[in-house]
Amino acid sequence: MKRIFGVLCGASLLVVSVVCVGQAAIFKSLTQVNVTMVSFGRNWTEANAIACARLCLSFFRSCYSFVYKKETGKCIPGSWLVPSAVSFDAHSGVLYSRGSFCPSNFTVRQASGLASCLQLFTNKTLNYTSSISSCKAIKSVIYTMKSVDKRTILHTEVKSFNRSFWIGLDDLAEKGGFAWADDGRFINANLSIRLFAPDEPNNHNSVEDCVVYNSSRGGLNDVQCNLKLPSACEMNPNKSVLKDF
Ligand SMILES: *[C@@H]1O[C@H](CO)[C@@H](O)[C@H](O)[C@H]1NC(C)=O
Ligand SMILES: *[C@@H]1O[C@H](CO)[C@@H](O)[C@H](O)[C@H]1NC(C)=O
Ligand SMILES: *[C@@H]1O[C@H](CO)[C@@H](O)[C@H](O)[C@H]1NC(C)=O
Ligand SMILES: *[C@@H]1O[C@H](CO)[C@@H](O)[C@H](O)[C@H]1NC(C)=O
Ligand SMILES: *[C@@H]1O[C@H](CO)[C@@H](O)[C@H](O)[C@H]1NC(C)=O
Ligand SMILES: *[C@@H]1O[C@H](CO)[C@@H](O)[C@H](O)[C@H]1NC(C)=O
Ligand SMILES: *[C@@H]1O[C@H](CO)[C@@H](O)[C@H](O)[C@H]1NC(C)=O
Ligand SMILES: *[C@@H]1O[C@H](CO)[C@@H](O)[C@H](O)[C@H]1NC(C)=O
Ligand SMILES: *[C@@H]1O[C@H](CO)[C@@H](O)[C@H](O)[C@H]1NC(C)=O
Repeated sequence: MKRIFGVLCGASLLVVSVVCVGQAAIFKSLTQVNVTMVSFGRNWTEANAIACARLCLSFFRSCYSFVYKKETGKCIPGSWLVPSAVSFDAHSGVLYSRGSFCPSNFTVRQASGLASCLQLFTNKTLNYTSSISSCKAIKSVIYTMKSVDKRTILHTEVKSFNRSFWIGLDDLAEKGGFAWADDGRFINANLSIRLFAPDEPNNHNSVEDCVVYNSSRGGLNDVQCNLKLPSACEMNPNKSVLKDF
């Protein structure tokens, strides 16, 4: 344990480095996530990362991140982090952030720079409408798949389970097409062709109004809404959340 400015630090120093400034601002180095820092367009030369963090906080109320390069002392203050298709270039320094990319219990997953904070409910099986409500209950939304990248993201998460997962797509409104549960817009016809499994949706027996992702078929399928199935919830698709640690 290392005590810096009266704050206990060092719990996870093996994994990440931690910079503490005062009581509230704890910056952690980010290594897992492909992100780009939104810089304020300034840079300084500072003796260490703590000095860099202090200066950033004193200059900018929205200082949520900074880059510090030990070898040159270069200190680049920044605000939000945005998803990026490539990982942060470690040659420019260490990227620190005082927020997590996703809220607790949600994991960030990316494909081609599209990021999603998601949480699987593998054991809690519910019907479609209850799955929507249970995502809302944790201030999230049921996972939608508005791009092929979103399929890649969900596929990677669920492929190890031989289960179909609810996603937020249904024709419960019976307006002549499948619509996204979050905004009620119809799925784009081209995307529909790419995402549904072959020969789906087939509205088998005219009772299939809700949509699952079946990883063994690699595609979407329409099923009865009252089936009790696992589901996936997501938070602020493609946005960095940066909740304080
Ligand atoms: C650092 O700031 C100077 C001017 O203050 C600017 O010319 C230079 O491009 C900046 N470098 C980086 C890496 O932002
Ligand atoms: C993250 O960046 C690395 C290296 O730049 C790249 O190979 C990888 O595909 C990226 N990952 C995602 C999920 O975008
Ligand atoms: C995260 O999940 C755990 C275990 O299910 C739960 O006790 C905790 O309240 C959750 N945290 C949040 C912020 O939802
Ligand atoms: C997600 O963010 C990335 C990086 O900012 C951007 O290139 C992409 O267009 C965004 N995707 C969507 C669906 O908003
Ligand atoms: C889900 O159930 C499986 C099998 O019963 C169990 O091994 C696993 O720990 C459970 N997962 C969670 C998150 O509770
Ligand atoms: C997946 O589950 C189905 C039954 O739901 C079973 O018929 C099939 O063999 C299972 N596949 C694998 C790979 O375990
Ligand atoms: C996924 O689709 C395959 C092929 O149609 C089917 O055998 C399997 O039961 C489906 N899996 C689930 C979990 O619904
Ligand atoms: C669907 O794809 C066709 C051919 O690839 C293209 O001409 C058309 O503009 C696309 N429509 C939409 C709505 O994206
Ligand atoms: C879904 O489940 C809830 C809770 O068990 C139940 O009240 C509701 O009627 C069910 N809806 C459908 C369409 O099966």
